[in-house]
Amino acid sequence: MEKRQELYAGKAKSVFATDDPDRLILHFRDDTSAFDGRRMESLARKGKVNNRFNAFIMGKLAEAGIPTHFEELLSDTECVVKNLDMLPVECVVRNIAAGSLVKTLGVEEGSELDPPTFQLFLKNDELHDPMINESLAETFGWATPEQLAEMKALTFRVNEVLKQLFADGGLLLVDYKLEFGVFQGQIVLGDEFSPDGCRLWDAETREKLDKDRFRQGLGGVIEAYEEVGRRIGVSFD
Ligand code: TMP
Ligand code: ASP
Repeated sequence: MEKRQELYAGKAKSVFATDDPDRLILHFRDDTSAFDGRRMESLARKGKVNNRFNAFIMGKLAEAGIPTHFEELLSDTECVVKNLDMLPVECVVRNIAAGSLVKTLGVEEGSELDPPTFQLFLKNDELHDPMINESLAETFGWATPEQLAEMKALTFRVNEVLKQLFADGGLLLVDYKLEFGVFQGQIVLGDEFSPDGCRLWDAETREKLDKDRFRQGLGGVIEAYEEVGRRIGVSFD
């Protein structure tokens, strides 16, 4: 497969065309952003760590029967994916209260959410990814009711697979964000799953081992990502 022109540069990844219109190359950069891109920093090894981490998780999800865009690793910082028609909607499942839920609803950080809760956000940095609902998504054509139902079901299935995977590594999957697209008429998981887009706490100490270390200036960001990877069996060699 031949790598062609850059199509799009996001905050942490760049997307390249290939000679196959159905395939893209994702390049994971070292760039790290928070607060909708207002804080940007380059963190050594991040591109490689997140590329390997994402490949491992996408493999586990595919094994569990969840359709994903991931095809294969291409290099330390690149992978080949299916060319999805992305939907501008972010799907979040929360098992434990943290982040914007704590800020907007005033619940205590760390309280268990039973049952886990599901939220939709619009992918729009300028508007700071506002929370939306099914009705707004349908009205504005961001996704159809059928697509929304499928994304919600898949996001909860991911929870069952990953909660257990992380629990086996002594970790709590606090919350995570997924993005989906359409490939040949089917809803397929896109984007990435890495500690950039989820919250992971040590199950015993509740130490934060995800991008909150960057958001909150706690340091040791990539070391924490590597620690999480090591505990669940990701190879970074
Ligand atoms: P929140 O608490 O900021 O709403 O985020 C919930 C989870 O989703 C958290 O793990 C971070 C992730 N997330 C992103 O990675 N990018 C985003 O743009 C949003 C809104 C959430
Ligand atoms: N991913 C978003 C950003 O980079 C939100 C965040 O992670 O804080 O700005």
